[in-house]
Amino acid sequence: MSKNGTVFVCSSCGNEFSKWQGQCFGCGEWNSLKEVKRLLKKKKGDRIRVAKTEVVELSKVKKSNNCSKRISSKIGEFDNVLGKGIVPGSVVLFAGEPGIGKSTLLTQLVGKIGGLYVGGEESAEQIRIRVDRLGLKAEKFEVLPTNRVEEVVDELESRALNLEKKMPGVVVVDSIQVMNAADVVSGAGSVSQIRECTFRLVEAAKRLGVTVFVVGHVTKGGDIAGPKLLEHMVDVVLYFEGEKNGDFRILRAVKNRFGSTDEVGIFKMTDKGLLEVRGEELNFVEEGESKIGSALTVVLEGGRAMMVEIQALVTESFSPVPKRIFSGIPYARGQLLTAVAQKVLSIPLYKYDVYLSVAGGLKIQDTGADLAVIAALWSSYKNRSYSDKAVFVGEVSLLGGVRKVRGLEKREKESKILGRSLLKINKVGEIRNS
Ligand code: TYD
Ligand code: MG
Repeated sequence: MSKNGTVFVCSSCGNEFSKWQGQCFGCGEWNSLKEVKRLLKKKKGDRIRVAKTEVVELSKVKKSNNCSKRISSKIGEFDNVLGKGIVPGSVVLFAGEPGIGKSTLLTQLVGKIGGLYVGGEESAEQIRIRVDRLGLKAEKFEVLPTNRVEEVVDELESRALNLEKKMPGVVVVDSIQVMNAADVVSGAGSVSQIRECTFRLVEAAKRLGVTVFVVGHVTKGGDIAGPKLLEHMVDVVLYFEGEKNGDFRILRAVKNRFGSTDEVGIFKMTDKGLLEVRGEELNFVEEGESKIGSALTVVLEGGRAMMVEIQALVTESFSPVPKRIFSGIPYARGQLLTAVAQKVLSIPLYKYDVYLSVAGGLKIQDTGADLAVIAALWSSYKNRSYSDKAVFVGEVSLLGGVRKVRGLEKREKESKILGRSLLKINKVGEIRNS
């Protein structure tokens, strides 16, 4: 830390530096360091006094049964992602792009199990309108329309002392970007505010045994101090993902102190809020569309197999730098696969614009879809379609080889259920013959 009590914190990974620099050494991100003021009242010569913490023998530590006693959220998909329900006293960071449906899902959660909705972003009236629209009972909600973190902590503290007013089942803080603490100098949404407010909420949750959901907005560019910074402070980190104009959303756990991070929850956005998508409905193929530029695949997300359609549009480019627009697959992956297609299938993609998307607005991370991406590019370039029974599954290597993917049997089974079968392709070059 520098003399005047400031540090520079990376808004992407949370690493701290004493001086400003263009690139974060921790994660390699450029221009992500933000100045954070520390409120230090220490004078030269002050001795820091610290309460003594005793060493404990682990075998003598009493287990509270909090971790085993879970509360159901009464939303099956939500419970799965959390690992069989909510752990009392835990703090969950609920992150996602603006407009993706964070407030909607958490409103539905409170509507099911009851709780306190702390709305710094919306007025009580706006929350009431949403609650009614979603067909939830307003009686389940208490609303605290504030963006001052002290008020939230005070409220919870007074509940802990006052037996007449019950502790809320869950507290939803929507969102952390608008909360602020009076004694932190910088404005709401800054790194120092976000960190301090989260810290106070975590502290209160642990001390008072109340479960807190903290909403955090992430932007694609990551220019707003984001939830990445908070991941180490909370127990569970959930990301709510999807293409905003598509219907489907995936809820993923990227960190879970009380369970695995392999599960995902799948939802569909409707005019009545988010509906759970279960079992055999995991078919995201757009029927009845032209099949030129389309290739089917089965992805595995959180142990669940889903039939997904990859769509590609390859058109001659009239700009010196051809366009690459990908939605639903990570940009770097899309670029890599475009390069493999260019090299191995000899498609002159350097003079073509490439648009890639995943039908249904799903965001996928499974590399098992690689082969389908290349197959879709080939289909669009060649203006030909595949049999509607053909399914492409395989991870593609830089050299154009096809690697086996995990969960092959599950994927095979899902294809069979939907009357299709996986193509046997060992090298990307073989796509020409399929
Ligand atoms: P919201 O939950 O406000 O997003 P976030 O809190 O992540 O910013 O949801 C925003 C979008 O969801 C909005 O564009 C409208 C849509 N929506 C529905 O389609 N159906 C609904 O029942 C609700 C409440 C919202
Ligand atoms: Mg919102």
